[in-house]
Amino acid sequence: MLEFMETMMADETASIGDGIYKTIVEDSPVAVIYADEGGVVRLWNRGAEEIFGWKQEEALGRSMDFIIPEKYRVRHWEGYFRTMKTGTTKYGRTLLAVPGLTKSGGTISIEFNVLLLKSASGATVGIAAFLMDVTARRQKDMELRKRIATLEAKS
Ligand code: HEM
Repeated sequence: MLEFMETMMADETASIGDGIYKTIVEDSPVAVIYADEGGVVRLWNRGAEEIFGWKQEEALGRSMDFIIPEKYRVRHWEGYFRTMKTGTTKYGRTLLAVPGLTKSGGTISIEFNVLLLKSASGATVGIAAFLMDVTARRQKDMELRKRIATLEAKS
């Protein structure tokens, strides 16, 4: 029986093919964005469409500047190209928290990690980012901080 179950489990694992991987990435509510060595968007999933308001066909082939507020662009590109060159990042597990731009011109709070994609020779060929819109949580945190400051001022 155990042997039978083990075979079943092995079969189920084997059945997770490319189609399932693709669907998970494409339909993930977490925004998945992949950019090539030049910083051009090559993958833009449904989560990215929902968070930033741009459809896949509008985002693919563009430089990432359209989601980066102007005052963050220099820091982003310095970091991006340094990471492409060195093949290391501090944001593999630590979250990078920044404001992002939406299609309607609004600003949202986002948090994300990045994943470096490497060729067989070890060269970095592109970078994927996994982003979440944390605007609501950041606003609640700010309200709480204000309330604490008001209470502290009273006591
Ligand atoms: C709302 C959009 C974004 C904003 C505002 C933004 C902003 C920034 C900022 C301020 C930095 C410098 C961080 C530091 O000095 O510690 C940075 C670095 C970086 N960003 Fe972005 N970024 C955005 C989207 C993206 C996306 C979509 C990717 C990847 C596809 C990406 C990849 C990177 C990388 C690899 C670094 C360097 C990380 C390191 O130094 O270890 N960014 N970005």
